[in-house]
Amino acid sequence: MPRIKFHCESFLFLFICIVITSTNQHNCPETEGCQRLQSHIQNETHNEIICRRVIDVEFSIDVHAIHLCKYDNATFYLKHVIKKLPNVRQVIIFDSKLSYLIGPNRYNHINLLRINNSTLKRVADNLLHNMSQLHVLDLRNNSFDRLPNQFTQYPGLQLKDVYLSNNKWNCRPENLMWTRNITTSLIRDLETVDCDDPFNGKPVFHISKFQQDIMSECPRYCDCELFNIVRDFEDVLNPIIAVKCLNQGLLQLPRHLPNLTKILHLENNSISDLSPIVTNRSYKDLLELYLDHNNIASIAILEGGDWLQRFNVLSLRSNKLVQLPTYALDNALSRNENMPDAVLFYLADNPWRCDCAYTPHFQEMLMKYAPQIKDLHEVRCRFAVGDENSLLPIVSLTRNSICRQANDYAIKPLDLVNIILASLIVLVLGKLVYDYYFFKKTGRLPWIVSKMP
Ligand SMILES: *[C@@H]1O[C@H](CO)[C@@H](O)[C@H](O)[C@H]1NC(C)=O
Ligand SMILES: *[C@@H]1O[C@H](CO)[C@@H](O)[C@H](O)[C@H]1NC(C)=O
Ligand SMILES: *[C@@H]1O[C@H](CO)[C@@H](O)[C@H](O)[C@H]1NC(C)=O
Ligand SMILES: *[C@@H]1O[C@H](CO)[C@@H](O)[C@H](O)[C@H]1NC(C)=O
Ligand SMILES: *[C@@H]1O[C@H](CO)[C@@H](O)[C@H](O)[C@H]1NC(C)=O
Ligand SMILES: *[C@@H]1O[C@H](CO)[C@@H](O)[C@H](O)[C@H]1NC(C)=O
Ligand SMILES: *[C@@H]1O[C@H](CO)[C@@H](O)[C@H](O)[C@H]1NC(C)=O
Ligand SMILES: *[C@@H]1O[C@H](CO)[C@@H](O)[C@H](O)[C@H]1NC(C)=O
Repeated sequence: MPRIKFHCESFLFLFICIVITSTNQHNCPETEGCQRLQSHIQNETHNEIICRRVIDVEFSIDVHAIHLCKYDNATFYLKHVIKKLPNVRQVIIFDSKLSYLIGPNRYNHINLLRINNSTLKRVADNLLHNMSQLHVLDLRNNSFDRLPNQFTQYPGLQLKDVYLSNNKWNCRPENLMWTRNITTSLIRDLETVDCDDPFNGKPVFHISKFQQDIMSECPRYCDCELFNIVRDFEDVLNPIIAVKCLNQGLLQLPRHLPNLTKILHLENNSISDLSPIVTNRSYKDLLELYLDHNNIASIAILEGGDWLQRFNVLSLRSNKLVQLPTYALDNALSRNENMPDAVLFYLADNPWRCDCAYTPHFQEMLMKYAPQIKDLHEVRCRFAVGDENSLLPIVSLTRNSICRQANDYAIKPLDLVNIILASLIVLVLGKLVYDYYFFKKTGRLPWIVSKMP
């Protein structure tokens, strides 16, 4: 076991010595119980102890630091330490199995509390209430998923350095309340305090900030969530924000969305106008738009912007669409950088027009973008009494069935001309045969020949 020797000549160095001492990790003793460590501060010896599993010392006012290891009671009471060691300044627990930590019940001198590699999961809400001398709080390498909400809200608290990394921080919004009231400038390892679940490995305080911004900008009738967060090539965190405003009877797209909203669910409303997608800055980052069960009759307005060139998902099931601007859509899709793998369409349950003038182009487009149109075989002709294509899947229609119309059997002008010409040919040939036999029989030339010069 390493023995530590310190020679601090003046009181000025006392604090520095304590910090140096505390950064040295001691090995856990082989035998159960406490041992004194030889160290000298201000010519005082025996001011540190290290204990395995139990704290078996009597009341000692000279002990300034306690190291504790292999302690495996679920709850640890700091008051028990204070009672035995009223002048203790450093409490260091390591390699233990704790789950709950309860603070001291009266004034004390603890200025450093370090609990590492000890499976600690919770601390009492008022842990810091009577710890007015605490400067360093190190909770690294434990199993915390959250801290109490108003953890550091005590007047007179002198906390200077807090360490929180390598825990199991839960980053669901409801479990991040604690991050809002803690003074982040105290947290020395702020950038490495990472989420465990969800957003594994992403920095807790950034996630928390994003979530607060999202909530503050979320329309009253919607649910807004941080759906994911990704690092770009420059290591900048990009939030993926999803907004859901379902079943609200909305007549219009939401006026405002949280900044950087990428996913928008508006199923089951009565929206008909899509123009804000082209014109409104709130929609500038939108990539996925779900508009199933609305009143959209046309998406032609989208031709006016670049949205069709950058979107990922457009879901328009159960709307009032009769036709799509096939040429413009084809043009935009051919330039969409998410093609082919990241573009998805849903088009089923609309009253699609089926006629010879439109459908062949539409069919061509459906075929061309079949991999992107996820409900391709559900894209059917509108219901029409007496129309044999009614409700048939559009991709399966033949050219004949599209272009044969109800009056196909009626005679058209061109047909009439053809019939007349054919009859004339028959007539001329008939006359030729007649004349031939007439000549053979009577030897007389036909009347027309006799008149020729
Ligand atoms: C953490 O503590 C456990 C026992 O509590 C020990 O087995 C393990 O080696 C320790 N981990 C480190 C990194 O010291
Ligand atoms: C803090 O100490 C006072 C006595 O000094 C005590 O009444 C109070 O219960 C303590 N608070 C906690 C949270 O232990
Ligand atoms: C406990 O903390 C000290 C100081 O930060 C560090 O050196 C040591 O590796 C930690 N021990 C464990 C088991 O994590
Ligand atoms: C946390 O544990 C890892 C290994 O599990 C160790 O390398 C690191 O030093 C520990 N850090 C602290 C602050 O205890
Ligand atoms: C933050 O602290 C203030 C004042 O102590 C309190 O009113 C507020 O509810 C706290 N917020 C949270 C999220 O705990
Ligand atoms: C959202 O964006 C606007 C304009 O870019 C900016 O003024 C505003 O502060 C942003 N809001 C948040 C919460 O980031
Ligand atoms: C478009 O954005 C402006 C603010 O940028 C907002 O006042 C307006 O209501 C928005 N309109 C729609 C229809 O979303
Ligand atoms: C829309 O409403 C229908 C019936 O009212 C319901 O079955 C469906 O789940 C709703 N869709 C969404 C996304 O809320």
